[in-house]
Amino acid sequence: MCGIVGAVAERNITTILIEGLKRLEYRGYDSAGLAVYSAQGALERRRRIGKVSELEAAVAAQPLSGKLGIAHTRWATHGAPSEHNAHPHFSGHDLAVVHNGIIENHEELREQLKGLGYVFSSETDTEVIVHLLHHTLKTQPDLTEALKVAVKQLHGAYGLAVISAKQPDRLVAARSGSPLVIGLGHGENFLASDQLALRQVTDRFMYLEEGDIAEIRRDKVSIWNQAGQAVQREAVQYHEGAEAADKGEYRHFMLKEIHEQPTVVQRTLEGRLGSDHVLVQAFGPQAAELFAKVRNVQIVACGTSYHAGMVARYWLEELAGIPCQVEVASEFRYRKVVVQPDTLFVSISQSGETADTLAALRNAKELGFLASLAICNVGISSLVRESDLTLLTLAGPEIGVASTKAFTTQLVSLMLLTLALGQVRGTLGAGVEADLVEQLRRLPVRLGEALAMDATIEKISELFADKHHTLFLGRGAQFPVAMEGALKLKEISYIHAEAYPAGELKHGPLALVDNDMPVVTVAPNNELLEKLKSNLQEVRARGGQLVVFADEQARMSNGEGTHVIAMPHIADALAPILYTIPLQLLSYYVAVLKGTDVDQPRNLAKSVTVE
Ligand code: G6P
Repeated sequence: MCGIVGAVAERNITTILIEGLKRLEYRGYDSAGLAVYSAQGALERRRRIGKVSELEAAVAAQPLSGKLGIAHTRWATHGAPSEHNAHPHFSGHDLAVVHNGIIENHEELREQLKGLGYVFSSETDTEVIVHLLHHTLKTQPDLTEALKVAVKQLHGAYGLAVISAKQPDRLVAARSGSPLVIGLGHGENFLASDQLALRQVTDRFMYLEEGDIAEIRRDKVSIWNQAGQAVQREAVQYHEGAEAADKGEYRHFMLKEIHEQPTVVQRTLEGRLGSDHVLVQAFGPQAAELFAKVRNVQIVACGTSYHAGMVARYWLEELAGIPCQVEVASEFRYRKVVVQPDTLFVSISQSGETADTLAALRNAKELGFLASLAICNVGISSLVRESDLTLLTLAGPEIGVASTKAFTTQLVSLMLLTLALGQVRGTLGAGVEADLVEQLRRLPVRLGEALAMDATIEKISELFADKHHTLFLGRGAQFPVAMEGALKLKEISYIHAEAYPAGELKHGPLALVDNDMPVVTVAPNNELLEKLKSNLQEVRARGGQLVVFADEQARMSNGEGTHVIAMPHIADALAPILYTIPLQLLSYYVAVLKGTDVDQPRNLAKSVTVE
């Protein structure tokens, strides 16, 4: 959830730590802190509530410097956001830790450590780690060896980094359930929870695996696996352009990411389409053999990724004739699931580190699924590593907390999955695959046309700025698109937004409709259009303001209280991808009008790596 940065070098690393934290801030941001081993031979710490800029100001006001240090941005789980709960946590004056994840047995450990005379200065679960390590050092004085012993007593999830004033030649780290990556420099080395934090200093990385312990010195990195054996982890060169973490000409990352969609959709399609069919090997070498056996699909995901899964259900059943169930991961992981024979388990995730989605995958392995497939944006994520098959969405790093380009690339990937499964199983109608492959090739251009409606949508957004409630309607595969539109609006503008299948309108939500509740509708030109039109009449009859995104061929026109925005024509199956764009722009412009923090909305985190 939070971010970790660490460094051991021959130069002052304070600014490297702060820059790294800024790059991680999108993951969680209620407080931040750092600890540095100073020239005076002591650990010095600064912590602040709020954004990293607060910490930066504190460091500027009261400078500290050193060649070894750790830093953290926090998103509170145990203990309110406050300075004393912010990391790093100390035991005595000489030992400091930063931690991502949750220590589940922290209460029990806290009692034991209190019994040993340790005094706690925070409500966090993290503080038990540092006291436990301090206690272990009494019998095992080597910091690395002591960490190996201490982590055996921790239950739960952690990615953690430790420094000691008594052994300032190293930074030690442990990974179990929360990612950590080592950044390799020349005569200096770094650590972070995401390589994005370190791209200012290196492009060579070593990814820790589950259960790894690392000892990072200026000139040497040593790693031990879960079994305690010394291991080598491959050093990987990272190629993504450094500009990915910059806003460029855009006012917000979210707007930049919305506008990147034609490019990243194109990238997600590249190398995966033959002349008139999807290349099944894109899903991995065993994909063809496994897909031939698939009789059902179970999709599991959270948030925006869940909405992508909901769209895929319409596609899989309608186009490929394959039964499909979709469920949010936090429900799936805790209920008794009956698995149909030959069911493919599909997880969808931007980050690949969402705790509930990962836990669902791990449960699924025990439940007799045929195989697991991850549709994921991060190639080195836990979800990808733990799945049998992978299809990467090539959206590039997504910084805005509200997901945009990750969603459309997920949809494209799920369409590829639908066509691949249908192709291998021979369940697609004649010509369907060739036609959709052709339409997919044209999709980036259509998306560009939808983005060109930017100014029109900005104007429409004025209708919403003073509203407190809105309704989003759609039918068929556009219902999940309406859900995603409602989610975007509530995430960044804090306006209450609900989505309904349009046919359900008169079973409840119609009671809410009045002049103060705008109703947004996605209305492509399909066989449900006429039904949708009558739903809209029901809204108008109650004085509701309608905003309708309709196909230019749908013959719908503006009228009193009805604002129709004509959309480029597109094949019905791909309409959910296209109609997502104006809804993203709408939420963006409403949020800008309301003056909210678009890229970092209150109370939300980009990657929810704890329950
Ligand atoms: C958080 C993010 C959402 C995201 C969801 C699932 O709630 O704010 O934007 O959709 O997590 O994340 P994932 O990385 O698994 O797609």
